[in-house]
Amino acid sequence: MCGIVAIIGKENACRHVLDGLKKLEYRGYDSAGLAYIYDKKMFNIKSVGKLNKLINAIEESKFSKLESSKVAIGHTRWATHGKVNIKNAHPIIYDKKVAVVHNGIIENYEKIKEKSFLKSYDFETTTDTEVIPVLIDNFVKKGKSFFESAKSTLKIIDGAYAFAAIHQDFPNEIFVSRNTSPLVIGIGSDFKVVGSDSHSITQLVNQVIYLEDGDYAIIRNKEIEIFDKKDEKTHRKIVNVNTDIGFVSKDGFRHFMEKEIFEQPNVLINTISSLLQENDKIDINTQKIGIKKNNAILISAAGTSFYAAIVAKYWIEKIANIAVSVELASEYRYRNPSNVGFSSMIVISQSGESIDTLMAMREAKKLNLKTTAIVNVEGSTIDREADYSLYTRVGPEIGVASTKSFTSQLTVLFLIAIKLANENKTINHKEYQSFIKLTKSLPNSLSKCLKMNDEIIDIAQKIKNTSNTIFLGRGYLYPLALEGALKLKEISYIHAEGFAAGEMKHGPIALIEENLPVIMFLISDGLEDKSISNLQEAVSRGARTILIGDRKSIKKAKFVNYSIEIPEFEKKFASTFSPILMAIPAQLLAYHVARERGTDVDQPRNLAKSVTVE
Ligand code: F6R
Repeated sequence: MCGIVAIIGKENACRHVLDGLKKLEYRGYDSAGLAYIYDKKMFNIKSVGKLNKLINAIEESKFSKLESSKVAIGHTRWATHGKVNIKNAHPIIYDKKVAVVHNGIIENYEKIKEKSFLKSYDFETTTDTEVIPVLIDNFVKKGKSFFESAKSTLKIIDGAYAFAAIHQDFPNEIFVSRNTSPLVIGIGSDFKVVGSDSHSITQLVNQVIYLEDGDYAIIRNKEIEIFDKKDEKTHRKIVNVNTDIGFVSKDGFRHFMEKEIFEQPNVLINTISSLLQENDKIDINTQKIGIKKNNAILISAAGTSFYAAIVAKYWIEKIANIAVSVELASEYRYRNPSNVGFSSMIVISQSGESIDTLMAMREAKKLNLKTTAIVNVEGSTIDREADYSLYTRVGPEIGVASTKSFTSQLTVLFLIAIKLANENKTINHKEYQSFIKLTKSLPNSLSKCLKMNDEIIDIAQKIKNTSNTIFLGRGYLYPLALEGALKLKEISYIHAEGFAAGEMKHGPIALIEENLPVIMFLISDGLEDKSISNLQEAVSRGARTILIGDRKSIKKAKFVNYSIEIPEFEKKFASTFSPILMAIPAQLLAYHVARERGTDVDQPRNLAKSVTVE
């Protein structure tokens, strides 16, 4: 993952790099660092931990000419190769002369280290990155220019990466290259800036160039020369981007995650109003999605977005009678999938940068499928490469755990389902109108669900000291059980597993022991008695049971230890909308357990918001 910022030609370059890095911490926060050149000398400062540590370290010590330098590169790391320590923190610097900040993985780094022409080099870090400054140094020492040296380096390294490099003997140049990992160049009048995403640089520029795969560039104060993978000089489109939307604040909430949970009623209004016209027509072009008669739809994604895909499968198959296949993006790419019976792939991604999802989409393109992205970040790689994009429009999601993205993705997917159902005539006009009316009522219903907060705090206090939990759900609530478990484990570090309620007896029931919390999401949909039996089976084996359900199902399952009733929703449709409504208690439970345990809710250990490595 990792975030990169680089600047050339601007006063106080280091401060601007730090500002950019602040916006890139979602890409990793194990360690951070920056390097700058002043008077043909390279300086650097690094620290382990979050960016604030680096900022404090800079403030505490006087760094030579830090304010005066006009060329600087910076990095916030999510470790892939090499432990989290100062040596492995970026910029990786060779011989105090060449500095590199890198995002991604150099896959053949071990082989490169063994090359005979690098025999005299001592590698000081355990990173894959270090081969880049070493190779550049080697070519510079052989008499090549910085640009030619970096270009020759590209011929040797393999992998998915983006990097920026500077050399103290060539202080007027930054070399950048991208292969799969994103990189964007911002154009100022007499300075240039580079970032891992456009958001990290729009406080400085409002025109950017997105490099394409295989591109590399040499950047000077007033000039950018870009070359494509065939080494031909090329021009890439200049794109106007919204100027800085500013740093997002917590608005009085304790954590971004809490704010983002509570923001859902409001942001869902944006999602819905951007896709629903005044005449209640849905502004989604199913021809652009590429759905053909008698073909199934493929949906691919990762993590929470994948769970949204499973819900979509259940909706689209039931409401529109179109077969849907869901694929974990990380699996799809390498398993030589068949395209028989498919004409379209929908990918779902908040960040628009998850490499697994991007690669699954590229694979689908190779198989001649039309691609549609349901994405939050406009201008992200997935957005730009998809044939057609639908936006969730929930604004920046800062907490690592996906919350408002999930409910908005579900809303977009639900609108696709009813649009298809309407076109396929699997629902009549009256049913269509009811679905639209209820979709419009979702923000209000989510507000009511948020009132469950206090009750959930009580439950959180009761289970906060457990080391294992099980989440159960059936039908539309099966993917929510998976999501509830993911949410809890990623931010509280409690081991949590989600299962389809009916699967318990096929193995997982062996895990039940005295006092193990078993959390079930339940809605009376005609099958509730079956799920209640599954819960009984857990109770018989000593589990502590927590039921999050509607009034009717709670009445039926009087034996549970704790129950939380969700607000009433139009009976006939409560089950259909249940994954959106019950997402709120699932998120609140994870949030409060984590908060009670004192974990770092917004930036949990080992995670990053945007997963750009395989
Ligand atoms: C979990 C979470 C992750 C993401 C996954 C995909 O809370 O946030 O599981 O859902 O990494 O990310 P996007 O949607 O950005 O592709």
